[in-house]
Amino acid sequence: MKLALFAALSAGLAAPAPVEADDPVSTPTPTTLQPGAYWIRAVEAPNFHKYLQTKPANVPGTAILDSYTTAGQFNIEDGQLVNKVSNPPLYLWVEEPADKANPPRTLATFFNTTKNPFGTFAWQGDALTWSVPSIKRQNLAAWLVCEKQALFVNTGAYGYQTPSGCADQTIHYYNDKTANN
Ligand SMILES: *[C@@H]1O[C@H](CO)[C@@H](O)[C@H](O)[C@H]1NC(C)=O
Repeated sequence: MKLALFAALSAGLAAPAPVEADDPVSTPTPTTLQPGAYWIRAVEAPNFHKYLQTKPANVPGTAILDSYTTAGQFNIEDGQLVNKVSNPPLYLWVEEPADKANPPRTLATFFNTTKNPFGTFAWQGDALTWSVPSIKRQNLAAWLVCEKQALFVNTGAYGYQTPSGCADQTIHYYNDKTANN
């Protein structure tokens, strides 16, 4: 990269915008499931068969549930929820609240290039759970989908006093060859 830039400069060409080696570039997710990977989707209204992904696809950013046509693919490895379609891989993070005894009702989730330092993802049957010893939760599989389809950990009870603008959801792995509606 440095050599190429030097060559371009000495040839009197405009310098290209610097690109960090670890800046993931959005690439579409393959439409068939990769070995060991899962689709992850809600199976109840109002997000029936909406799939976990980012927009744009496969770059760091807010975790959302959206169309099967742009569904992401994921694995759980050592408690990390990882997207290995992206290069480098992306890990799902959960916002760490300052007050863990009285956490906010929703904890934001987003994908980042480094491993999530806060909590553990696991399957319970086919349902995705997240837990951390410092936060008591009634239901480890309780998620909320709120504005702009953003996915949050629900620190409260499932289906009880649902925050306005949000919908209670559980989300599940699905391992058919293609994502579907
Ligand atoms: C993403 O990971 C980096 C390195 O671990 C960290 O410094 C950064 O705060 C993370 N991004 C967010 C939005 O938390």
